[in-house]
Amino acid sequence: MAQQVQGVIAPGKNEPVRVETIIVPDPGPGEAVVKIQACGVCHTDLHYKQGGINDDFPFLLGHEAAGVVDSVGDGVTDVEPGDFVVLNWRAVCGQCRACLRGRPWYCFDTHNAKQKMTLLDGTELSPALGIGAFAEKTLVAAGQCTKVDPEVSPAVAGLLGCGVMAGIGAAINTGQVGRGDSVAVIGCGGVGDAAIAGARLAGAAKIIAVDIDDRKLETAKKMGATHTVNSRSGDPVEAIRALTGGNGADVVIEAVGRPETYKQAFYARDLAGTVVLVGVPTPEMQLELPLLDVFGRGGSLKSSWYGDCLPSRDFPMLIDLHQQGRIDLGAFVTETIGLGDVEQAFARMHDGDVLRSVVIL
Ligand code: APR
Ligand code: ZN
Ligand code: ZN
Repeated sequence: MAQQVQGVIAPGKNEPVRVETIIVPDPGPGEAVVKIQACGVCHTDLHYKQGGINDDFPFLLGHEAAGVVDSVGDGVTDVEPGDFVVLNWRAVCGQCRACLRGRPWYCFDTHNAKQKMTLLDGTELSPALGIGAFAEKTLVAAGQCTKVDPEVSPAVAGLLGCGVMAGIGAAINTGQVGRGDSVAVIGCGGVGDAAIAGARLAGAAKIIAVDIDDRKLETAKKMGATHTVNSRSGDPVEAIRALTGGNGADVVIEAVGRPETYKQAFYARDLAGTVVLVGVPTPEMQLELPLLDVFGRGGSLKSSWYGDCLPSRDFPMLIDLHQQGRIDLGAFVTETIGLGDVEQAFARMHDGDVLRSVVIL
């Protein structure tokens, strides 16, 4: 039987979001219905509402979520009703060249649930990032569910579904930060702070946080930054070099997504160092660099896609480390809110004090 539940809908471009009754069909083959317990509010949800991603309104927002499997469709064997799971953006095929080479984050054939959730009048909903978890229940592909330790708080577990994983993964997976490395993180929002926490976890000796906002730098210290640089008060490249014996950092993580900060990241690395680009630029942004510098500086320039994460490996591991007190994922949860508070949470997003507002169901 299809179920009727409450969910947060973005009805049209820049219109306020609202809670509406939605219809969640029974899971078909390869699908699962998940009872959502917690879902973080991410910038991407705001971008959907603003029409910055596509115009497939109405959207069912929310995508950083954890909950309990409610029911599964035919052929689903990896999860079963009652399992506590964290959701990820898309199930991977396991068979394409990217999957077979051990890089499933580049899978050519990802999928989400095939059936659609609808409004009461039958209007089909587009779930944000193939999830749609500001809802009491949602329909996903079973491969989007990763089982984790049910002892962890759902608010913490859900964070791994997006921004926090992107940041931690940028440091530990893409950047391969090692014990004793020097790391600079440019941009200390939720993603940059998670990169700082990831660098600390990996054993970095020096973690330099760079931002234009002193309040962000204070939070970055709590996440593990050993040094802070406000780039409004001088050239951050010079500051990073000065803090690393004149060399530049072994790994520089860019978590802003702008040409000037991409350029800073490029020049702030040690000659053989690694630049990890996790900030997402807009289509019109361009960056000009002297080719001799590109050639002569060696090292590598990598972009990080969803923290290059392997949910089945990384979600349970990070939750175990959190439960052992070796990384504090709880520090990313600034406040817990209800389904009806998402619009206000968007308004507070640019307030320097909010890392994540998490809807609790
Ligand atoms: N130099 C340094 N820091 C900057 C600059 C700059 N020129 N401009 C902005 N910042 C800082 C902001 O002050 C803020 O602390 O970058 C941070 C960006 O943080 P958020 O807006 O909270 O964004 P976040 O969710 O962390 O995502 C950052 O990563 O995954 C991507 O799409 C995401 O591009 C976005 C980026
Ligand atoms: Zn694949
Ligand atoms: Zn997100």
